[in-house]
Amino acid sequence: MPAILINGRPAEYISVLDRGFQYGDGLFETLRISAGKPRRWAQHMARMTVGCQTLRIAMPESTLLLSEVMRLCSGEGDGVLKITITRGTGERGYAPPAQTASTRVLSLSSAVVFPAAYYRDGVSVRVCDTRLADNPILAGIKHLNRLEQVLARAEWQEGEEERESTQVAEGLMLDNNNNVIEGTMSNLFCVQESGSGSVLKTPLLTHCGVKGITRENIINVAEAAGIPVQETTLELADLYRSQELFLCNTLMGIWPVRQLEEQHFDVGPMTGQLSQALESLHD
Ligand SMILES: Cc1ncc(COP(=O)(O)O)c(C=O)c1O
Repeated sequence: MPAILINGRPAEYISVLDRGFQYGDGLFETLRISAGKPRRWAQHMARMTVGCQTLRIAMPESTLLLSEVMRLCSGEGDGVLKITITRGTGERGYAPPAQTASTRVLSLSSAVVFPAAYYRDGVSVRVCDTRLADNPILAGIKHLNRLEQVLARAEWQEGEEERESTQVAEGLMLDNNNNVIEGTMSNLFCVQESGSGSVLKTPLLTHCGVKGITRENIINVAEAAGIPVQETTLELADLYRSQELFLCNTLMGIWPVRQLEEQHFDVGPMTGQLSQALESLHD
């Protein structure tokens, strides 16, 4: 059982009238806890603030959230913290109530450890049939409506394959214009040769997808290292002609892609360089 605080109190249940439950009317963040402290706090708060502004939900003071996070996590070593903010309770009907106090749920669970082979040899990735719908207003933020990811992730079963090395670790999702957007739980990068050297490319997230914090950090460390970065439209054919592919999120860091459907990729030098640079970030 994760340790949970709801509006600052130890609890397990929220009201069925909560709009997060009724309509997915809210946002969440998944953070890494290292030695009892949240990693990349400022970035998670920045994304949550943008999300709250977009949905016009009252964002709890980040100092209040941090004090509750520390109450829950300090002394707990490493773990995963999920912060959920909803618009709060409301009567039947979509119309947001004029006055609501948002609900905040903090939930701490054990750290996740992925197989070392994922980092050393890379992972196998499939292409999902479930598509991501365009919605420029919601693109980028981490809102609670995740049915597309749930359906996409239900397309394959863990352990379906006999050997760990052939197990599918993640699925890629496309939009309805055949642009690759991201993984079901991760963002995507590819490395392509141009006339003047290697370019790092990642899908544009103006119409759908989640703007990952790890994605942002990878773009920053790449630019600091003088690697050209392009946020652009990418189709599957662009991925198949890339030299390197990798996936990223807060919990996995960087997973090199060893196989996409039938095509093999090497774990390349830029993936290694960026993995190291990401790990050496302080926060
Ligand atoms: C759909 C989706 N895209 C991207 C990400 C990566 O985001 P972050 O790097 O902030 O963990 C996640 C993380 O869970 C996700 O669920």
